[in-house]
Amino acid sequence: MCNLKMEHKNVSMALAPLMVLVILISSGERGSSAVVQFIFGDSLSDVGNNNYLTKSLARAALPWYGIDFGSGMPNGRFTNGRTVADIVGDRLGYPRPPPFLDTSLTEDMILEQGVNYASGGGGILNETASLFIQRFSLYKQIELFQGTQEMIRMKIGREAADKFFKDALYTVALGSNDFINNFLLPIYPDSYTYSSVGFNNYLMSTLKAQLTMLHSMGARRLMFFGLGPMGCIPLQRVLNSGECQKSTNKLSLSFNKAASKLMDDLNAKLPNASFSFGEAYDVVQDVINNPVKYGFNNSDSPCCTFVKGKIRPSLTCTPLSSLCTDRSKYVFWDEYHPTDAANELIATVTMKKLGLKSVGT
Ligand SMILES: *[C@@H]1O[C@H](CO)[C@@H](O)[C@H](O)[C@H]1NC(C)=O
Ligand SMILES: *[C@@H]1O[C@H](CO)[C@@H](O)[C@H](O)[C@H]1NC(C)=O
Ligand SMILES: *[C@@H]1O[C@H](CO)[C@@H](O)[C@H](O)[C@H]1NC(C)=O
Repeated sequence: MCNLKMEHKNVSMALAPLMVLVILISSGERGSSAVVQFIFGDSLSDVGNNNYLTKSLARAALPWYGIDFGSGMPNGRFTNGRTVADIVGDRLGYPRPPPFLDTSLTEDMILEQGVNYASGGGGILNETASLFIQRFSLYKQIELFQGTQEMIRMKIGREAADKFFKDALYTVALGSNDFINNFLLPIYPDSYTYSSVGFNNYLMSTLKAQLTMLHSMGARRLMFFGLGPMGCIPLQRVLNSGECQKSTNKLSLSFNKAASKLMDDLNAKLPNASFSFGEAYDVVQDVINNPVKYGFNNSDSPCCTFVKGKIRPSLTCTPLSSLCTDRSKYVFWDEYHPTDAANELIATVTMKKLGLKSVGT
């Protein structure tokens, strides 16, 4: 090493720019300078993992999913266009991380783009959405991330890998399935084992353990996205004669309050942790109450629905479903998920709560 340094000093001025170029290229190859994002979440952030889980009942593998994204073919996103995490990541200047199960995923791609582990049906709890047969719970996603870390350590060495994982941004966005596809369905034992307060505490103690685990694996900058008014998703309304389920909305509010406090507690306890909490509950509730004020025309039914909305709830958007005439005027894309237009608004509000600004604006 010492000899090398001596030689560098003797390199003539003419060769110096070439040396700089070589150093830039080699550090680019090792990826030690790239700052990427790792995303953990459910169908609101899935960018294709469940399409590889062929037994999963939660897949966005058929038209009209993805109709307003790229080529317009289904890409695994449970919406017509971009997810909230896509929009937030774009605005912060991060590359969009490929899905973990992408068969072409390599160490070099991970070093340049990060990884997205989000899986439709995924919950904070392992038992959530077991009816969907296949999905990655948050614990499973963290386990997969552990595998990613081992691959990267082998590729670039422990020290560079530690830096890479400490510099990265972590996005964690889960919780609605723990209610919609667990606590609120009487077929799941959690629904009769816990009171709503007890269940929220159970979610928080689990989430605390999971985020602490991510911190121990190197996560320092982490954003947690809270829940919207779950009681106003079209599925909840259609089961409640068209009205929002107030009791379900209360569950979102208690979850958000506790999750926000959890981030504060973790920041106080974990060295160098910068964990932030963002959500768009109030604004989404206002959009739902006053769609026209925000440029929407419909906030209570899915844009993509079966036989012109006569057969509801239809569990997913299918090629046989019909679409609303103007997708940018609907808040909801299917019975569960917002449209690209609504996600754009949710991203804007969430970033404001997180105290984040777009790069280059
Ligand atoms: C949850 O699942 C993970 C594997 O995905 C397992 O390692 C862990 O022990 C499970 N935790 C509980 C509480 O069941
Ligand atoms: C916290 O940050 C300081 C300054 O960058 C660093 O020296 C220290 O090792 C960090 N501690 C942990 C646990 O990451
Ligand atoms: C949406 O537009 C249709 C047709 O122009 C109109 O009949 C309907 O009242 C509008 N809905 C809202 C919520 O503004």
